[in-house]
Amino acid sequence: MTTRTPPPGEPLHFATQCIHAGETADPVTGAVMPAIYTSTTFEYEAFGQAKPHIYARTSNPTRDALERCVAELEGGARALAYASGQAATAGVLDLLDAGSHVIAPVDFYGGTRRLFHEVRRRVAGLDFTFIDMTDVANVAAAIRPDTRLIWVETPTNPLLRLVDLAAVSALGRDRGILVAVDNTFATPALQRPFEYGCDIVMHSATKYFGGHSDVLGGLVVARDFELGKRLLSLRSASGGVMGPFDAYLVLRGTKTLALRMERHCGNALAVAEYLATHPAVEQVFYPGLPRHPQHALAKRQMSAFGGIVSCIVKGGRDDVARVLDRLQVFTLAESLGGVESLAGHPGTMSHSSVPPADRLAMGIPDNMIRLSAGIEDERDLIADLAQALQ
Ligand SMILES: Cc1ncc(COP(=O)(O)O)c(C=O)c1O
Repeated sequence: MTTRTPPPGEPLHFATQCIHAGETADPVTGAVMPAIYTSTTFEYEAFGQAKPHIYARTSNPTRDALERCVAELEGGARALAYASGQAATAGVLDLLDAGSHVIAPVDFYGGTRRLFHEVRRRVAGLDFTFIDMTDVANVAAAIRPDTRLIWVETPTNPLLRLVDLAAVSALGRDRGILVAVDNTFATPALQRPFEYGCDIVMHSATKYFGGHSDVLGGLVVARDFELGKRLLSLRSASGGVMGPFDAYLVLRGTKTLALRMERHCGNALAVAEYLATHPAVEQVFYPGLPRHPQHALAKRQMSAFGGIVSCIVKGGRDDVARVLDRLQVFTLAESLGGVESLAGHPGTMSHSSVPPADRLAMGIPDNMIRLSAGIEDERDLIADLAQALQ
């Protein structure tokens, strides 16, 4: 395999990196896109002399191509692709010894909370402190001698709250605590946590990286090569790897990541501005709105504000149900980050695994809607919301 070297001088811009990062041309066929290698096993050169690939649970050429690309896009030393975002998060938790203490946000993806709270607490004795991370002082106060990981999600799902990456990283660095960031909502197109000193970046590749709602996957990127090696060894042990077909689809998705994010962000801003003026809407959550309490931080650590908008509709759960059922262009469905616009009800969908009282304490009432702005024409999205909110 021959790796193309970037031209000397300026580093490539992100949109160019999306097309070329980690790219290798096939020396035999000259194929521009990597092949989908389905072989699970690879011939040895001779006894005791393995070639670069041995067995597909550890490495596979198609998955390697994706991992090289993602490591470069995030600016990390090593990326690893997993079977899902949840498998990726589990891979990060595998770094911790039994009984370790972890600090996590009180409002974040319900599935991550479920994995932490219901699984790893029970099977690995991990101890979690869930805090409001919008105030870094809360993070500092939650640190204990046995704290080994600070798990950050920014912007959070579904409240679009932000965490100050530089400030949290500084706290972790001073005490030798790993700082991992779920960067699913922002993607490296908008936010690059390593630039703020974080140690690990995680993605649900099912969302913007894949970008077309047709592949499930997860990604972990390590800033440091040794940490990447440790994650690889743990992933080989637990086996939750991304398959070659899925790796190909995610790699294909990365080619248009910069382009899609531009449109997602433009559409989301238009939707947020529209909802902010609508009489049937009580509150809008979008970091790109100047009235968002952390708009200044958003401008500092993100280059644009993402494709997700949440809102609280006036009335109760029945009113929300009526709005969601009337939508025509937005599809009522789980997930986010695809080219099509989606609408979800966190209470019964993404955060249904969180007990109702905890959900309310997190700030997720039953009349909240989460919208994932796709890449359609913004006029059609706004017309759809207008008729549904009538
Ligand atoms: C922010 C965030 N992190 C992680 C996940 C989990 O990813 P997956 O569904 O690919 O396992 C999700 C899924 O919705 C998510 O929104």
